[in-house]
Amino acid sequence: MTRHFLALHDFNEIELYGMLALARDLKEKQKQGIPHRLLDGKTVALIFEKSSTRTRVSFEVGIFQLGGHGLFMPSTTSQMGRGEPIRDTARCMARYCDGIMIRTYGQEIVEEFARFSDVPVINGLTDAFHPCQIMADLLTVIEHKRTWEGLKFAWVGDGNNMANTWIEAAAILGFELSLACPQGFEPDAKVMAWAHSRAPGLISLTTDPKVAVAGADVINTDVWASMGRESEQKEREKIFVGYCVDDALLDLAQADCIVLHCLPAHRGEEISDSVIEGKHSAVWDQAENRLHVQKAIMTSLIIR
Ligand code: CP
Ligand code: NVA
Repeated sequence: MTRHFLALHDFNEIELYGMLALARDLKEKQKQGIPHRLLDGKTVALIFEKSSTRTRVSFEVGIFQLGGHGLFMPSTTSQMGRGEPIRDTARCMARYCDGIMIRTYGQEIVEEFARFSDVPVINGLTDAFHPCQIMADLLTVIEHKRTWEGLKFAWVGDGNNMANTWIEAAAILGFELSLACPQGFEPDAKVMAWAHSRAPGLISLTTDPKVAVAGADVINTDVWASMGRESEQKEREKIFVGYCVDDALLDLAQADCIVLHCLPAHRGEEISDSVIEGKHSAVWDQAENRLHVQKAIMTSLIIR
């Protein structure tokens, strides 16, 4: 049966850990210049309905390093952008390609694509989830902290696709996650309910960033207005005052905490310039790890 990577909740702890171990192995090989052409002769299509820098580049470069071909497909220049049904696009593309990554809006779009695709479909970000990103973030935590066991994770800001995915990761992998989101900007209620039933007591929600960050080992934030929500930017800037990860907030965390941001960042809004450029920032390692993790996800799904 074809296995897709649409959301973390489709995977268990052992499977996620296995992908991260493979990512570490592939990273080591790449650093040492050891060939690892695991996708030799394979083509992975990359469909983008939203903008991207890191996801596009890390997938394309990753596929190249694995000996395959990455096919960049902005939806504006394909028939999908003119309204061709998802299911028709999916069935045709699956006959040409060995894997398909999609960045789009609704989670139902990647689910529909996967239903009609005989080859693995990877979620490169939807309004609901960003699972490839959280895998890179987890690898970064392992590298900086050795393990996530016993650590406190904090989320400060919008209850968006990143927050939802962190909640799923916490529930599956079993670490403490404290989220601070303004009222009305909470994470998806269904995701919260699922996580609470799977891992009671691990995930908490507050409106106070200080509560979330107190004693935290890993602090995460993200833009206040995600892609597709740009028209709300000005209004959100007023609502999210006080939700900036700055030096004062960091003083409440563990002295050796790390700060993560999936990027792109808006300095002076959700994160201060001094924090993103400072000694606690792990964001450049985090961005690099997109490459290594994506290679592991593609290899795990396509070569089974
Ligand atoms: N973090 C992330 O997905 O970056 P891009 O939007 O640049 O791909
Ligand atoms: N929450 C952000 C993440 C960007 C990588 C967005 O969806 O725009």
